[in-house]
Amino acid sequence: MLNLTGKNIVLGITGGIAAYKAIILLRQLKAAGAEVQVVITDAAQAFVTPLTLQVLSNHPVHNNLFTPQAQSGIDHIELANWANILLIAPASADFIARIANGLANDLLATLCLATTAPIILAPAMNQNMWLHPATQSNIQILKIRQVQILEPEMGIQACGTVGPGRMLEPEAIMAALASNVTKNTTQDTNRLYSNLDSNLDNLNSNLDNLRPEQSLTNTKVLMTAGPTREPIDPIRYISNRSSGRMGYSLAQALEELGAQVSLISGPCALSVPLSVERLWVETALDMEQAVQTRISDCQIFIATAAVADYRVANPSVQKIKKSLQSSEDTLTLNLIKNPDILAQVASRPNPPFTVGFAAETQDVEAYAKAKLDSKKLSMIAANLVGAGQGFEVTENALLVLWPGGQRNLVKQPKLSLARNLARLIAERYHAQIKS
Ligand SMILES: Cc1cc2nc3c(=O)[nH]c(=O)nc-3n(C[C@H](O)[C@H](O)[C@H](O)COP(=O)(O)O)c2cc1C
Repeated sequence: MLNLTGKNIVLGITGGIAAYKAIILLRQLKAAGAEVQVVITDAAQAFVTPLTLQVLSNHPVHNNLFTPQAQSGIDHIELANWANILLIAPASADFIARIANGLANDLLATLCLATTAPIILAPAMNQNMWLHPATQSNIQILKIRQVQILEPEMGIQACGTVGPGRMLEPEAIMAALASNVTKNTTQDTNRLYSNLDSNLDNLNSNLDNLRPEQSLTNTKVLMTAGPTREPIDPIRYISNRSSGRMGYSLAQALEELGAQVSLISGPCALSVPLSVERLWVETALDMEQAVQTRISDCQIFIATAAVADYRVANPSVQKIKKSLQSSEDTLTLNLIKNPDILAQVASRPNPPFTVGFAAETQDVEAYAKAKLDSKKLSMIAANLVGAGQGFEVTENALLVLWPGGQRNLVKQPKLSLARNLARLIAERYHAQIKS
């Protein structure tokens, strides 16, 4: 179990329905041994009462910037210095916008500017608010400033819709905290910003060191990523374990090489760099249509999406009721094959440089080679999935094949792997144009 003994945590709570989960989170932080002081916004008080938080934290709850202590200029600075970690859960869209802009118009926002402790945000909001370009751009700004974002999950929302925006459960927030506590025991602002500078320097020097055949300036890339969902009825669907992380990392890596990237994405809760154009789809048929309308003016097509091979032939318009089948122990779904989007693109009269992915549970090389040949792809990136590899993990390894060559990309974090793969794609793309 996570041991937070000796850690001082400021728990910030902003105004959203998920504020009730902050009460459970507070209990878990205390149970792990942390000293916790709670800061709530005015709006948060409409959702949870200061009294509950005061009793559970064993400290007065802070809300007001202008207390008698503050008049001697100490309250918020003392609290900012006291904190080893500033954890804000839930973080509302409004609050995210305020701190992305460096505002200090209430106690919690002021603390974010005044503290040198790591800041961790667990956003929670309606999916349209989360996916709005304004919120996504604020999130990018905060990430650049090394604020840790605990990306919200997909799921049923308080408003009844299904989509990304649900705050992580307290257990998942505690797990993220565990890795932060191990990484950041002595973090201070100087180290934080010097790390940031050196990351940016590394990135810039990597870009400066690009050979011409690794640059994708003036190149249009169309990509697919994430899973598809095939409806059974209005409530249920068939899907798979793809998190979308590999595709999203690759979109970022290609954009870093100068490419103009459009990403057609199935449902997932990941963010993309601002200059990547993203189009949401749900089913394989939606994805096929989106690809068909955009394929003609791209030079590279990369299919990282885990498209469902089959869909339900006749999805029910109404929810399928258990009671109707009460005499039956089984329910039969009639499945029909989905279109093979990758093969469609590769068999066009003038195909773009076409890259496929193969996720296999065995005989990776043989299956990948067969797929490369049968679909006439320009390149295929294959990996072993299952047993803790491939899907829903942060590290991966790839075997990349193309007609007449292959390269092993060893196990590494997905973004680093994506950067190596992006360079290889650029090299092979330029080689194909020359030949
Ligand atoms: C019933 C209700 C639920 C709300 N839920 C959310 C939410 O989940 N996420 C969010 O960003 N805003 C939500 N809002 C809007 C925020 O409360 C509002 O933007 C407020 O200004 C946030 O202030 P704060 O960031 O200072 O706490 C909700 C508002 C109401 C009335």
